[in-house]
Amino acid sequence: MSKAKTTFYCRNCGSESSKWVGRCPACGEWNTYIEEPVEKKSAQPAVYEVAERARPQKLSEISAVNYQRINTHNDELNRVLGGGLVPGSLVLLGGEPGIGKSTLALQVALQLKSRRVMYVSGEESLQQIKLRAERIGGKDEECLFLNETSLENILVYCKELKPALLFIDSIQTISTQGIDSSAGSVSQIRECTAALLKFAKATHTSIFLIGHITKDGILAGPKILEHIVDAVLQFEGDHNHVYRILRSLKNRFGSTSELGIFEMRGNGLREVSNPSEMLITTNDEGLSGISIGATIDGIRPFLIEVQALVSSAVYGTPQRSCTGFDSRRLNMLLAVLEKRAGFKLSAKDVFLNIAGGLKVDDPAIDLSVIAAIMSSNIDTSVHHLYCFSGEVGLSGEIRPVSRIEQRIQEAQKLGFSKIFVASANRKGIDLSGSTIQVAFVSKVEQLFKALFGKN
Ligand code: TYD
Ligand code: MG
Repeated sequence: MSKAKTTFYCRNCGSESSKWVGRCPACGEWNTYIEEPVEKKSAQPAVYEVAERARPQKLSEISAVNYQRINTHNDELNRVLGGGLVPGSLVLLGGEPGIGKSTLALQVALQLKSRRVMYVSGEESLQQIKLRAERIGGKDEECLFLNETSLENILVYCKELKPALLFIDSIQTISTQGIDSSAGSVSQIRECTAALLKFAKATHTSIFLIGHITKDGILAGPKILEHIVDAVLQFEGDHNHVYRILRSLKNRFGSTSELGIFEMRGNGLREVSNPSEMLITTNDEGLSGISIGATIDGIRPFLIEVQALVSSAVYGTPQRSCTGFDSRRLNMLLAVLEKRAGFKLSAKDVFLNIAGGLKVDDPAIDLSVIAAIMSSNIDTSVHHLYCFSGEVGLSGEIRPVSRIEQRIQEAQKLGFSKIFVASANRKGIDLSGSTIQVAFVSKVEQLFKALFGKN
């Protein structure tokens, strides 16, 4: 018997090699190559193949279809999609297992009462879906559910029932007969997605594909699919916290700088339309070590609470620990405070926490990190109506940040009385109509003086 032909695929990016390699030459990831049977095309045409041949056309001949976007009745999802779902688009919703992808998909499926929706699950039984639907309190008599893993069968039902929206949970469980390898393998995922894309374009069905990613890439990552699908949405968050962020990594029909925020509750995901109100607590008791930073993620401004604790080191080597903030950046800010502002922090433990379990990499948060550390160090609170937005440079200078007006407006909207920003941001900034007091600072020492009145 002849040996079945195999080839090696990268689980991360899908590139192919005839022999095993330790490091993928295409994406640079280590240990991602797996052996799979060579893709064998079946002689029979697959169900999805469109018989018509398209004729090349001039731009003027192409009829401009005015995309009537489908309202998903979920404002955060609509926002991330760029104002609703485009008919005939293929959207990949990726995220780690247990983050809430199936919950979001089911919630959207049950809210779309005006259109026919089909929800295909290869992971959960229909009873389990019903339990989940009861839990999130959704009822929709029109939504159809199917427990199926064969692509051919799914497409047969789609042709018959013509849903406007199809959910596939998850792409890793679906397989086509045309290929020998098992469901979840690189070639199956690629082939099934390509078939679904053809189907979506030919019938104007919008399709949501759910895809898992694990940190070590055990299942094929969405990288393989990124260039096939129209939009890639990533659902992320910390399992120990209730907030989830939906980001768009690619979007052919909208901007990728939008993000949606959700809160995972006992009865499903709740849209958080005003994140700042959730992420900050009113510190009117005058606790030290708390400050509020005005940050921007994508194009969405929000205020976030930074908490710091500075205490004498019990052990010889002081500890520095952060949650939601880059620890190397914290070390740099501590060095700046030590060298430029004369703080003696080298023998102190410093703990830093960004409230709500969010990760912030906007450098504008620096100023509030510094304010929180200084406040905890001298055990004096920062006024609870003050907030901060500025980057801190190595020589202790406060550097300007982008979109400063949006940040100031957000702070004003939430009732803050004063915002500290970099002096260099003063140029070209329009403060007419703003009632919040804007304090311009250029050095860390100046900020310290303004906050605590000492030097
Ligand atoms: P799920 O949607 O199954 O995640 P995924 O499809 O991304 O793997 O969500 C699973 C988690 O969500 C689970 O840990 C329980 C939690 N959850 C709630 O907190 N409230 C709810 O109403 C639901 C349905 C799930
Ligand atoms: Mg799931």
